Formats: sequence, C-alpha cells, structure tokens
Amino acid sequence: MNISVFVSGRGSNLRAIHAAVQRGELEARLRLVISNRSDSPALDFGRTIGAETASLADTAPGSEEETARILELLQHVETEFIVLAGYMRMIPEVVVRRYHQRIVNIHPALLPSFGGKGMYGHKVHEAVLAAGVKVSGATVHLVNEEYDRGPIVMQQCVPVLDSDTPETLAARVLEVEHALYSRALQLLISGRIRITDNRTFIQ
Ligand code: GRF
Repeated sequence: MNISVFVSGRGSNLRAIHAAVQRGELEARLRLVISNRSDSPALDFGRTIGAETASLADTAPGSEEETARILELLQHVETEFIVLAGYMRMIPEVVVRRYHQRIVNIHPALLPSFGGKGMYGHKVHEAVLAAGVKVSGATVHLVNEEYDRGPIVMQQCVPVLDSDTPETLAARVLEVEHALYSRALQLLISGRIRITDNRTFIQ
C-alpha cells in the first residue's frame, strides 16, 4: 500500500510510522512527504529515507492551485492512503472526496472533546487541564469534510496527573500516539476496518 504523509512540523509521528514499516509491523511504502512549510524538519527526514518530498509553501491555503498541486503529487506516486501527521492546513474538499475513507488523522486528545478548528498543539493540552478532566489520550480518525469529526478508528487513554503542565501531558500523549498510529494504520490498510455510519468496527 502506497502512503503519502502530510506534515507541518517536527515529524515525530512520521518517524514512528517509518520505524514501524522498517520493523515489518506496517505493510506500507512511504512514498511521499508533503509539508506546507519548506523548512519542516520532517521534509529532511523524508529525504533521508528515500521518500519523495514536496512543499506547499508557495501555494495559498484553500486555493485551486493548492488542490491541483496536491492531487498531482498524490497521483504521481500512486497514493492509496493519506496519513496526516501534524498537518496544519485543511485538506481540500476535492481531495477528501477523491480519497474517501482513505485519509486518516491523529489528534492529541480524546475526540470529540478538545477538537475542532483552532484546537492544535499546546492549546489542546491547555484546554484539557483547564477542563479538569482526569484522562486524556490520542485519537486516530478518518477525515471527512468536518474538522476532527470523521469516524474514530482507535483511541487510547493516558492519565492526567495533578502535577501536569501542558508540556508534560503532551509528552505522555505523544508517546501513546507513536504506537497507536501505526497499529491503526495497519488495520486500515489491511482492510480490517468496517465503517457503518460514524462507527468503525475491527473485523
Ligand atoms: C501530534 O501531537 C499530533 O497528534 C497532532 O500534531 C502533532 C504532530 O507532532 N496532530 P509530530 O510532528 O508528529 O511530532
């Protein structure tokens, strides 16, 4: 299965996915890394592992040019599955429709809480602490036209500790993300996830 990974920042989930491929736990070929920033460390990593890399920094978010470029890049490497790993732009609707139920995202909280527009990075963990909840976690979900609202594939909890800061909580969630994402991806690309309405079932 050919996968293309969209990133914006440091790319630790990208590295974890690559490591899972190397260990034989994820039967995928990591063909392309796309970032909206030309200086994204994840692009450097993509080059070192022999993936194709591309930056969307010179296309305006939401523009027709951006959509056309994304589709061209995806088709060029015969993408079968799209993996969002810390990607900060909206995926254009045309792309969401073209890759229906073949786009997946990871969110650093237990959706549908603490998600939606503007909920990214430390803002998520600040909101979790401010709400006083006792568990947080990571969510892998399919991407549809609504922000953070596609069918949930897998979730894993972590405790929220009395001593937590947004940084310590983020680190605990990130560790869980790295393992969870590859497991969920393997289930998805091996066709073991059945989707009915907004629910998914492992077969
Ligand atoms: C992760 O916390 C992920 O849940 C969120 O963005 C962050 C990306 O981190 N969507 P990294 O670039 O994979 O290190």
